[in-house]
Amino acid sequence: MSAIHYQEFEGPIDEATLLRLGTVAGPVFSAPGHPEPAAAEMAEQLGLAVNGHRWIHLCTATVNGRVVGFKVGRSNDPRTFESWMGGVLPHARKQGIASQLARLQDAWCRNRGFQFIQTETAHDNTAMLTINLKAGFCIAGTYLDRGNRLKVVLQKAVHGSS
Ligand SMILES: CC(C)(COP(=O)(O)OP(=O)(O)OC[C@H]1O[C@@H](n2cnc3c(N)ncnc32)[C@H](O)[C@@H]1OP(=O)(O)O)[C@@H](O)C(=O)NCCC(=O)NCCS
Repeated sequence: MSAIHYQEFEGPIDEATLLRLGTVAGPVFSAPGHPEPAAAEMAEQLGLAVNGHRWIHLCTATVNGRVVGFKVGRSNDPRTFESWMGGVLPHARKQGIASQLARLQDAWCRNRGFQFIQTETAHDNTAMLTINLKAGFCIAGTYLDRGNRLKVVLQKAVHGSS
């Protein structure tokens, strides 16, 4: 694969960027046997979930100008940053992209003075759980999302903070 470029952005995500992320999120989150989520729909969901927060951080991985992976987080709390959503296109997986995006988010949180990063993962998302545990997250709890889907809550003290 060609060289991977990483970029970071902070603050509200503009419409064009949301749409670029939507085109990645569609294939990333498509479930077998279900139609792929439409890019515009994913873009709208992303914008609604993230924009309006006081702190927003986005990092992307691009190859030949096309986004192949992203990680986005949000917060209104100056102590704890929420790592909200991320993914890597299937053809670009297992090359360390998600791990590098996590490192960029971690460094940004440290520079911004956050003390903790929190995230949630589906209990059966082995890849994401592994990445988070390798990155130093600890399991802080579990809950049943909408009554039937077990979610794992993970927290990490940002390196260098108390
Ligand atoms: C989870 C996901 C982001 C991983 O992206 P990736 O770029 O392939 O991950 P990395 O290459 O950085 O992998 C880092 C480590 O995670 C673990 N890992 C990655 N994919 C794995 C898999 N399918 N099964 C088990 N462990 C896995 C490995 O330990 C790997 O380290 P190694 O390569 O040294 O063995 C990607 O599979 C994805 O987009 N999944 C669908 C979307 C999703 O679940 N997003 C998270 C919830 S919002």
